[in-house]
Amino acid sequence: DGDEFKYYFEGEWKKSASGKSVSIINPTTRKTQYKVQACTQEEVNKVMEIAKAAQKLWAKTPLWKRAELLHKAAAILKEHKAPIAECLVKEIAKPAKDAVTEVVRSGDLVSYTAEEGVRILGQGTYLVSDSFPGNERTKYCLSSKIPLGVVLAIPPFNYPVNLAVSKLAPALIAGNSIVLKPPTQGAVSALHMVHCFHLAGFPKGLINCVTGKGSEIGDFLTMHPGVNCISFTGGDTGIAISKKAGMIPLQMELGGKDACIVLEDADLDLVAANIVKGGFSYSGQRCTAVKVVLVMESVADDLVAKVNAKVAKLKVGPPEDDCDITAVVSESSANFIEGLVMDAKQKGATFCQEYKREGNLIWPLLLDHVRPDMRIAWEEPFGPVLPVIRITSAEEGIHHCNASNFGLQGCVFTKDINKAMLISDAMETGTVQINSAPARGPDHFPFQGIKDSGIGSQGITNSINMMVKVKSTVINLP
Ligand code: G3H
Repeated sequence: DGDEFKYYFEGEWKKSASGKSVSIINPTTRKTQYKVQACTQEEVNKVMEIAKAAQKLWAKTPLWKRAELLHKAAAILKEHKAPIAECLVKEIAKPAKDAVTEVVRSGDLVSYTAEEGVRILGQGTYLVSDSFPGNERTKYCLSSKIPLGVVLAIPPFNYPVNLAVSKLAPALIAGNSIVLKPPTQGAVSALHMVHCFHLAGFPKGLINCVTGKGSEIGDFLTMHPGVNCISFTGGDTGIAISKKAGMIPLQMELGGKDACIVLEDADLDLVAANIVKGGFSYSGQRCTAVKVVLVMESVADDLVAKVNAKVAKLKVGPPEDDCDITAVVSESSANFIEGLVMDAKQKGATFCQEYKREGNLIWPLLLDHVRPDMRIAWEEPFGPVLPVIRITSAEEGIHHCNASNFGLQGCVFTKDINKAMLISDAMETGTVQINSAPARGPDHFPFQGIKDSGIGSQGITNSINMMVKVKSTVINLP
């Protein structure tokens, strides 16, 4: 009935005093795969206390030592890629190869963060006073970057390892401690990742991982006075968190409705390949997935035909067999996707493939002739269903993109770099990709959303800088 896993606190694995657990349902089999502890609010209080104490000592640990431990953790993580990937396959139905890639990418991210951290944090500033009007050279200002304290890290189900370490590693190199609350689907993969950090030998209490029901400990964690920074990736829960959190730095990456604008002169084979990869990899369950295609009417028939030919080749089935399209994460998610599809059907969208669903498994579907009155023109399916809207000018595409509540990424396909630059400037999104599908990586690139897609900027360098504050000491001469 599913192996039960302990939570991680003060360098030890513990069972919750609640005596209760939360079940993790395998999306493919729809049976309980694992169980994790349902931690209580009292346990959260203790974790916060310990994390605070451990952080004080960690902040005094030399930067090179912090980096050394992170490099060690990265190596251990990569050594354990197979068992962690197996958990990802079972908990979130990530295709087998992508699951391994997630772990390897995470190891690389941790190492890069250690390297980047020693450089960024090894530098401070030195200012003299007489450059500002009215001052003599009697003041010397020395500034450096110091940690914030306890960082609460909340990653989403689709990258429970990678989007956990993208918060942990910058926080740790900068001298912060961590309270990690993994998503329920993905919690066991995250606990395995934490185990790699445990094996690396980080001090007790510096990294803690609590599991449990959002309804029991979610608000309690995000509103906890012991938290000095929240780094969250997920859905619109992030908006609710931002309204309730205290006066602390917030880093949020929320949803997206990434538009793909295709002009007449685009290389349609390149576009089709990017639409299929961008729209359907991990069954569309990426915040950066292509979520709406805005194509010039004159090339739309050709493009749709090319995309359909590629969609026909996608392998649908179990993640263990490394299929391209696997079950979406939960039944409620599958129901939501189906709701969008049925709405589009009722309002007259053209179905390029037959709609097919078995349990949580939804076959890939391209919907052509989608119009703005259909929900799928605006909402994020987080599934293998992609709408195509035909446009008659680039402005129409930009207008649709900018009318969205979201503003994560977008992309434009054209051979004319001048047009591409103008469209990029006009698109109100955190990033615009020219001639490629949206993507977060490489992981040191800045990554940010505007509007309902987030607050702050991520990417290794930006995350390190976000998880510190500036401290100045001014030497005053008589
Ligand atoms: O799901 C949100 C992730 O940040 C997207 O990352 O572009 O590497 O898939 P990705």
